[in-house]
Amino acid sequence: MKALVLAGGSGTRLRPFSYSMPKQLIPIAGKPVLEYVLENIRDLGVTEIGVIVGERSHEIADVIGDGARFGARVTYIPQDRPLGLAHCVTLARGFLGEDDFVMYLGDNMLPDGVADVAEDFRAARPAAQVVVRRVADPRAFGVVEVDSTGAVRGLAEKPEHPRSDLAMLGVYFFTPAIHEAVAAIGPSARGELEITDAVQWLLSNGAEVKASEYHGYWKDTGQIEDVLACNRRLLGGLTPAVHGDVDEASVVQGRVVVEPGARVVRSRLVGPAVIGAGTVVEDSHIGPGTSVGRGCVLRGTRMADSIVMDGASISRVSGLAGSLIGRSAVVGPAAADPAAYGEARHVLVVGDHTRVEIAA
Ligand code: DAU
Repeated sequence: MKALVLAGGSGTRLRPFSYSMPKQLIPIAGKPVLEYVLENIRDLGVTEIGVIVGERSHEIADVIGDGARFGARVTYIPQDRPLGLAHCVTLARGFLGEDDFVMYLGDNMLPDGVADVAEDFRAARPAAQVVVRRVADPRAFGVVEVDSTGAVRGLAEKPEHPRSDLAMLGVYFFTPAIHEAVAAIGPSARGELEITDAVQWLLSNGAEVKASEYHGYWKDTGQIEDVLACNRRLLGGLTPAVHGDVDEASVVQGRVVVEPGARVVRSRLVGPAVIGAGTVVEDSHIGPGTSVGRGCVLRGTRMADSIVMDGASISRVSGLAGSLIGRSAVVGPAAADPAAYGEARHVLVVGDHTRVEIAA
């Protein structure tokens, strides 16, 4: 079996972050989403991995490299424009050959893995096996209808009026039968070649399509709230380890990782939390539910339930929560230059589609 990982796309719901980095590289508990994806694939014993990349291909390649770190061989497959999930399968035709494969969306987090589904698929080899779970509002997902025997009876992509509460997760298992299906379908109303339509085509043409209900943890990290929720969840499973320097005036409570070269001075770290390598934390109260990247500086800051990316610096800000701070961002008090700013209390230099919430 091979794997096809989808790491292109535009990530509009993750703006402004998707302006400057591929959404699959957003760090969760200190590690990019895509690394969790590759680890899960490796855990299935799959070592030939094709990765679909869009215009930010070099950034993905910088992080993933040739895949050796994951015990795999990665082949990059460029996609000029995000024309849909089924379009990705078409582009990967040469790479996939006549092999079965798992298609894995590069923004989906399933920390409990998909080994059971892979085992089922390998044993029965239906033309397609999708992974589903019941959700309160399935309208943002592919939706699957199953009959009383568990057989798939119909699929629809983001239907306005869902016919069931079973949403499709971003993991699919296929035999080469999918290639005829992706070649047969046309673009959807939103102009994309939908994998959901290709699977429906298989079904309509008499092929066997199975759905496995998933009970582990799952998040599509397409939205900021989901990124933060997933961060909290993964931090909760950390093995505490203090490699960096924590001075005697500091307190470390609960599951906390302080990476090598980090320095914690006169501060309180409340787990679960990660402080990245080379980061300096001074006179601050960090956590719970917070991951701070590498090379950051946090001074006189109180924050919880947040992600701070590499190289950011935050000083003298208290009461930060539910925040996502981008790479090398600077957050702090206004510069003491009354001549320049008069009575102004806030100075903002924020990018397009940024969201700033300031206490009145
Ligand atoms: O997360 C599960 C959902 O994922 C499913 O329920 C839906 O049926 C499925 O269509 C998909 O919906 P999304 O709207 O969340 O897909 P998104 O556009 O976010 O793309 C998923 C991943 O695939 C993401 O990592 C970007 C990548 N991608 C997407 C497109 C459209 C590509 O690499 N190329 C593309 O052309």
